[in-house]
Amino acid sequence: MNKYDVLIIGAGIAGLYAALQLPKSKKVLVVCKDIPWECNTFYAQGGMVTALNEADIALHVEDTMAAGSYHNNKEAVEILSRTSLETTADIIQRGMEFDKDSQGNLLYTKEAAHSVARIIHAGGDATGRYLHYFMMVQNMHHLQKNTLVYDLLIENGRCYGVKATVNYEPTAIYADDVIIASGGIGSLYAYNTNSRTVSADIHGICVEKGIELADMEFMQFHPTVFVKTPFARKLLLTEALRGEGAHVVDKEGRRFLFDYDERGELAGRDIVARGIFDYKRQTGEEAYLDFSMFEESWFRERFPNITRTFGALGYRFPQDRVPISPAFHYANGGIKSDTHGCIEGVEGLYVIGEAARTGVHGANRLASNSLLEGVVFAKRATAHLLAKSKKEGRIPKFDKDYGNILHKENDKMYKQRLRQVMWDDVGIIRTAKGLHEAKNLIYDMKNKEIGRLLKLRLNTASAIVDAALARKESLGSHYIES
Ligand code: SIN
Repeated sequence: MNKYDVLIIGAGIAGLYAALQLPKSKKVLVVCKDIPWECNTFYAQGGMVTALNEADIALHVEDTMAAGSYHNNKEAVEILSRTSLETTADIIQRGMEFDKDSQGNLLYTKEAAHSVARIIHAGGDATGRYLHYFMMVQNMHHLQKNTLVYDLLIENGRCYGVKATVNYEPTAIYADDVIIASGGIGSLYAYNTNSRTVSADIHGICVEKGIELADMEFMQFHPTVFVKTPFARKLLLTEALRGEGAHVVDKEGRRFLFDYDERGELAGRDIVARGIFDYKRQTGEEAYLDFSMFEESWFRERFPNITRTFGALGYRFPQDRVPISPAFHYANGGIKSDTHGCIEGVEGLYVIGEAARTGVHGANRLASNSLLEGVVFAKRATAHLLAKSKKEGRIPKFDKDYGNILHKENDKMYKQRLRQVMWDDVGIIRTAKGLHEAKNLIYDMKNKEIGRLLKLRLNTASAIVDAALARKESLGSHYIES
C-alpha cells in the first residue's frame, strides 16, 4: 500500500518549505500536478516581504491591515510579521542569495501601500524563480510530478489520503497527514497571471466535503498585466516597477491614477486595479506603463526578466511603454484554517499558502506578502504536525472513484464560458445583476454532462459568486456597483 507519514499537495513555496521542515526520517511525498516549476511561486517577480527588525513589525502589521481594509485576522497578521524575522534568517542561513549592494547589504524595495522599503528580491525581478529553484535543490524528500489529486479520502472527521492520477493512472495515496499547498484559483478567470496548473480543484473538493471556504468574494486583481498574448497566463509587470518609479499613463502621457487616489501609482493594489479598469472602460482608451524615467543599464540590471520577456515580444526598455490591463492574480480567500493550518472538523488535514484562508490578507493582500505567507504558515503547520502523537488505526475502504470521469467531451467549451463569465461578471467591478447571471450560468453548467475536474472548478466558482452576492457593500477587492 502507498502509505506516507506526510503527503504534501503542491510544490510551490509553501509545499517545498513545509517539506524542508520535515525530518528525513519521515516518509514524505510531495506531489505536483505537472512539472514542479508550473506553480505561482515560479512566476513571482517582485519579492518577499520581511519585517526589517522588531521595530518594523507594528508598521508592517498596520500596512497589511490597512491594505486588507481591516478585515484581516490581526493575530494572523502579527504572526506573519513576527515569524518573518525567523523564516527570512533561516532561508538566508540555508544559502539563499537575495540581491545585495556592493557592500554585501541586502537590497530592499518598496511596493504599493508599504510605508517603507522592506521587500527582498532575487535575480532582480525573478524572486519566485530563484526561491523555487533554491527550495527544489534543498528538498530531501521524494517529489512526484504528474500527480493530479481528484479526491480527498475523508471519513468520520479524519483525512486518510487522496485519490489522484499519477501519469494518468488513477491511484490512492494514503498518509497520516495531508498538507494542501495547491495554490489558488487562477484558471477560473479569462485574464490571469497564474500558472496553468492553478485551477481550484482542491477548493472544489472541499466544497463537496462540506469544508468551509471563507472570504471568497475577495479575489485580487493585479493592476499591471500585459494581456495581449494568446496564452492562458498573462504577463505580469511587477509592482516593484511602480515602487521604483514607473508611471501609469494614458496615451497622452497623463498620470490619470491621481484622479482616483492621491497616492497615484502607489495606492493599494485594489484601488490601482480599479482605477485602470475604470479608466479603460470609461474612455475606451489604452492605459500604459511608462519606464522612460529610468536609465537603460539600470533598468536592465534591476528588471532582467521583464527586459528579456518583453524583448522577445519586440519591446525595448526604457523607451517603449507597455499597454496594460488588470488581471486576476491572487485569491485572498480560500480554505478556512486556523493559524497552524488546521482545518476545523478534519483531523490530519492542513492547508497552507495561497490555498488557505487564515485571515492574514483580509479584503486585499498587501504586495509581496504572499511568498512570506507560504513560508510562515508552512513552518507553523509542520511544527503542529510534528508535535502531535501518531494515531494508528485501520484505513477505511474508499470505493467511490472518479478516475475515469475526470474529463468529458464538452468540458473545454464550458471552461472557456466559465472563464469569460467570471471575468465579465465576477471581476473587478461587480453588479448584483451580473452576479446573478453568473450564478445561473454556473448552475446550468453543473447540470450538463461534464467531467469531475470541471465540476470541481464550478464548485469553487459558485463559492466565489455566493460570497460576492452575500456581501452587499464594497470592501477591499470586492467592489459592487449599484
Ligand atoms: C508583483 O511582483 O507585483 C507581484 C507581487 C505580489 O503578488 O505580491
